[in-house]
Amino acid sequence: METVSKHNHNPLIQGKIISVRGSVVDVWFDNNLPPVYTLLHTGKDKEMAIEVLTQLDAHRIRGIALTPTQGLARGMVVETDGKQLAVPVGKVIIGRMFDVFGNTIDKEKLIPADIERRNIHQLPPPLAKRSTKSEIFLTGIKPIDVLMPLERGGKAGLFGGAGVGKTVLLTEMIHNMVGHNKGVSMFCGIGERCREGHELYHDMKKAGVLENMVLLFGQMNEPPGARFRVGHAALTMAEYFRDDEHRDVLLLIDNIFRFIQAGMEVSGLMGQMPSRLGYQPTLETELSKLEERIANTNAGAITSIQAVYVPADDLTDPAAVHTFSHLSASIVLSRKKASEGLYPAIDLLHSNSKMATPGIIGERHYKLAQEIRQTLAQYEELKDIIAMLGMEQLSVNDRNVVNRARRLERFLTQPFFTTEKFSGLKGKEVSLDDALNGCERILDDEFKDLPESAFYMIGKIDEAKEKGDHKPKTGNKSKSTESEKQKPDVKTDKQETESKKNPEKVLEKQTV
Ligand SMILES: Nc1ncnc2c1ncn2[C@@H]1O[C@H](COP(=O)(O)OP(=O)(O)OP(=O)(O)O)[C@@H](O)[C@H]1O
Ligand SMILES: [Mg+2]
Repeated sequence: METVSKHNHNPLIQGKIISVRGSVVDVWFDNNLPPVYTLLHTGKDKEMAIEVLTQLDAHRIRGIALTPTQGLARGMVVETDGKQLAVPVGKVIIGRMFDVFGNTIDKEKLIPADIERRNIHQLPPPLAKRSTKSEIFLTGIKPIDVLMPLERGGKAGLFGGAGVGKTVLLTEMIHNMVGHNKGVSMFCGIGERCREGHELYHDMKKAGVLENMVLLFGQMNEPPGARFRVGHAALTMAEYFRDDEHRDVLLLIDNIFRFIQAGMEVSGLMGQMPSRLGYQPTLETELSKLEERIANTNAGAITSIQAVYVPADDLTDPAAVHTFSHLSASIVLSRKKASEGLYPAIDLLHSNSKMATPGIIGERHYKLAQEIRQTLAQYEELKDIIAMLGMEQLSVNDRNVVNRARRLERFLTQPFFTTEKFSGLKGKEVSLDDALNGCERILDDEFKDLPESAFYMIGKIDEAKEKGDHKPKTGNKSKSTESEKQKPDVKTDKQETESKKNPEKVLEKQTV
């Protein structure tokens, strides 16, 4: 069956639906079986889209629906002009919000119909075309800039379980960087809440930075096919800015785990055997097809920051493990820190960056970062003893380490612009110099007489002094009540987990 399409004179190939299982649709073609990735249309107004994923035999293809399949039935006619899913590229897409098909969803005026469209499936740039520069990308967020500096043109991941602050941290980074970033910023929402997409769009509009941004969403209400392809659509647009306009691109993705999850749903529906923990056997290939496209060439750089949901807070989950291997910096968010209110809840010892070497960040910064890590690691080790025997039993040296570490932990929290509305604290952006300076002075014991609370949720270190000085004379008293308040907490908590893991060890310690 062949007719000629009205618009482009490509022969239209027609087929018939022979089975519908969830989002997976099998189609029969008498001849001219469409190749993989071809987009098929069906429905009354040809409003439903199906992408070919495999050719089952000489007459049947199996595809995944990119739109809801309600109303789809066997025998319905499917047609295609042989094209793949393509999204608009060009200057006009800046400041707009799109769905996976490249349709605008911001209720503004339509983009011109004759605008160039590019296929969302592209190969990553070859090795010979890639470039690596080692430059730091500052975020204005103290713990990140000091301990896990991001790479310009690199990939950074924000790992965390449900509700530990991934989206808040990502939004804060957008807030701090979009204004300063000379290139284009792109936000790609994959499988997260629709509300968040809307809020972001309006916040960006209000902040007046929309003219340098492109937003793209395939949220959780959409079928797995749409969530599976929206990342590729975003990269096609990003590649246009990099390759054609030679501009740097900042690509923010929330949440790359949902891309993997969409792949898992598709794979299950396609009838593939699941692999470890039910993930698709092709997880690694699918993820690298997307991640490898986020690359720097001589034309420009794509810097990406990706939120990664970690199921059940288990960092050994295959989805998290495979994502780790693509990144140059990983920021791990911890539930424990979130529960203590130490936001951003970054696990300072488990997060790391390949940039943290003396050759790139400089000798002073490197040494300071090492010293901070050392202090925090020592404190971590001492926590058990403190929980069992109390601070009094520590040597003077150890007590100093604990004091420094607790002040550092608090100094490395920061009030966010994003959370101003509900925290009531004014957001702060801190320069790297100020952050390093503060840490250095804390490590030098310059502020050992200030109460710990003076360091909590401040910007520069000078604010600690103001906060400490403004306290009533009971400043020192409040310090002791504060640590006393914390002690029983820590104790029960620690003992509980410890006794679960290793009851003998706890007994041993208690007898000591
Ligand atoms: N920096 C912060 N300051 C104060 N509160 C915060 C901060 N970060 C996170 N929170 C609190 O944690 C809540 C959850 O944060 P967020 O929505 O960013 O989590 P998430 O990791 O994206 O969760 P999900 O996996 O469900 O998407 C926020 O609504 C807020 O109450
Ligand atoms: Mg989130």
